[in-house]
Amino acid sequence: MEFHDIARSGQVPEGVVRRMFVGEVEIAVARHDGTVYATSNYCTHLDCLLSSGKVTEEGLLCSCHGSVFDYETGEPLSPPATRPVPVFPVREENGRILVGIDEKLAKAALQRRAARSRRGKPA
Ligand code: FES
Repeated sequence: MEFHDIARSGQVPEGVVRRMFVGEVEIAVARHDGTVYATSNYCTHLDCLLSSGKVTEEGLLCSCHGSVFDYETGEPLSPPATRPVPVFPVREENGRILVGIDEKLAKAALQRRAARSRRGKPA
């Protein structure tokens, strides 16, 4: 797995979630209790952007319909989402945030985006 340097640590302060990219892969990067977490940016309910959500005690909250996702596993802790979001491993070193992505994770994240694009097109 390759780790990508995506940001300075200060760009993701405590309690904040930000939208970032590794190539074409869009990720939500959040800091809770000092630890940085990274997931696919697309909610598994209806693809709302998790970077528009909120960092809570329980997990990352999707602001569209209120599902909360576990930071470490990506599992939904509350409905309506029923499927986990892909989670990316994170390292924080020397004031930088690094996110690990392999082919399988990148594919999972891009599939969400492809599905979203298809739904957006007129029949
Ligand atoms: S799109 Fe996230 S809860 Fe509905």
